[in-house]
Amino acid sequence: MLDEVSLSAAQVRLNAVYDPHRFRAAATQWAELLSAHLDNVQQRSTRVLNWAEPEANIAEAERWLEGANADSNRFESIVQQMLDRGHNLHHPHYIGHQVPAPVPIAGLFDAVGAVTNQVMAIYEMGPWATAVERALVNRLGEQIGWKRDNFAGLVTHGGSLGNLTALLTARNVILSGSWEEGVSHASGPKPVMIVQADAHYSVARAAGIIGLGSKQVLRAALNEKRQLDPQRLDEQITELKAKGHPVVAVSACACATPIGAFDPLRDVAAVCHKHEVWMHVDAAHGGAALMSKRYRHLLDGVDQADSVVWDAHKMMFVPALCAFVLYRDKRHRFETFRQDAPYLFDPSAPGMAEYDSGMLTLECTKRAAAYGLWGTWSLFGESLFEDLVDVTFDLGRLFYNKLLAAEDFVPLHEPQCNIVAFRHVPDSMKDAPPEVLGAFQRELRRRVIESGKFYIVQTNLGGCGALRVTIINPLTTEDDLNELLSTLRDVGTELLKRG
Ligand SMILES: Cc1ncc(COP(=O)(O)O)c(C=O)c1O
Repeated sequence: MLDEVSLSAAQVRLNAVYDPHRFRAAATQWAELLSAHLDNVQQRSTRVLNWAEPEANIAEAERWLEGANADSNRFESIVQQMLDRGHNLHHPHYIGHQVPAPVPIAGLFDAVGAVTNQVMAIYEMGPWATAVERALVNRLGEQIGWKRDNFAGLVTHGGSLGNLTALLTARNVILSGSWEEGVSHASGPKPVMIVQADAHYSVARAAGIIGLGSKQVLRAALNEKRQLDPQRLDEQITELKAKGHPVVAVSACACATPIGAFDPLRDVAAVCHKHEVWMHVDAAHGGAALMSKRYRHLLDGVDQADSVVWDAHKMMFVPALCAFVLYRDKRHRFETFRQDAPYLFDPSAPGMAEYDSGMLTLECTKRAAAYGLWGTWSLFGESLFEDLVDVTFDLGRLFYNKLLAAEDFVPLHEPQCNIVAFRHVPDSMKDAPPEVLGAFQRELRRRVIESGKFYIVQTNLGGCGALRVTIINPLTTEDDLNELLSTLRDVGTELLKRG
């Protein structure tokens, strides 16, 4: 026991802050507040987005930073404030970005890591965090179809960092010497990267970061379904190789962001193998379809890829951020960062480097990002992920059919998953030029999201603004989708009336 008499005033204050009884009281209040909040949100009794202008929110957030001290007892009102000002992803009318309404209990597992600050860089710092991550890498690699012991993987803070990590590995493998000498040391035609024309911006950004230069990012042609066209890819690589350009990687999508198109991976792989080119698959969104018997065919051929990125914080419904980078050939895992950090990586225990996450990731300190996924999988079993994919992908198809049936809505593609892009085209808009029609979609969406009734997003397709939903809350029902269409109609009518 610490003798309070010998403690400084600051130490006494700190002991009060770290007091486990105080923590218990706060945690009890926390549990009550969060459960009541989820109940309200899931019952549709709140707004989806609590919209406020950014400066108003910042001023309010700053106001809270004043006037507190170690004795203040405003935990409850602070948490309530966070809930009242936030975005309610568990509201069934949240049908927005590729960020899910996570399984709530997954957040509790993540909180164990947060409260106890489980982190990695080296195995001994976070032995269980590392073990959890590796166990999941094993399972996801097997879902891809790879043989145990041949593949390797790691977790990063998000799919963007995952794409960067995988493409840096590709660069180091394909352009040997580039880690040590830099890309510019090579003479001759410049190395290029071929990316699916609709690829997420993080892929092209990665090319800039790894020194290829954004001008060396070449878009691969798409077919009419916005999928990578293997035939034209073959021609493109043949032409590049004839001119002597090294191809660092082909980056395919499963699926691409705008309309959720899955590339024909088996055919893309055949082209990559023919030309001995690194094949990367950004399966940030669609990787989880591998968990579904009904939808895993969408990723047929993914086992041929050299690297795959798969975000668990998208379609595995765990809180952000938890993204996997997976390598078909485990020998590539140490190619990304060819570095030693002697103060971290202990040469007296050489076998341990295999388990030191810092050898494989850009991050040094890395939070136990997989606790949410591992806990959820351990609690509910693998079939949960199949249900989540099946329910939300099926709703995508249902929504598409509703759009087809409605006279004043136009679906812009046949969905392969839970992403659907469309336009509201009331009678008076039927002959409107694209800029007017697009502006109408954007204004319509803004009004709907600021009303708090629904949250959907906007995009640009074929040079014209459009509406886009990702059905990524498994609590969304057919009635909610009907209500979305009627809300868009009502708000649209109002908007057109005002001119
Ligand atoms: C296909 C695809 N790749 C990568 C990303 C980026 O992932 P993150 O937001 O986890 O960085 C996204 C984000 O939506 C995406 O849709």
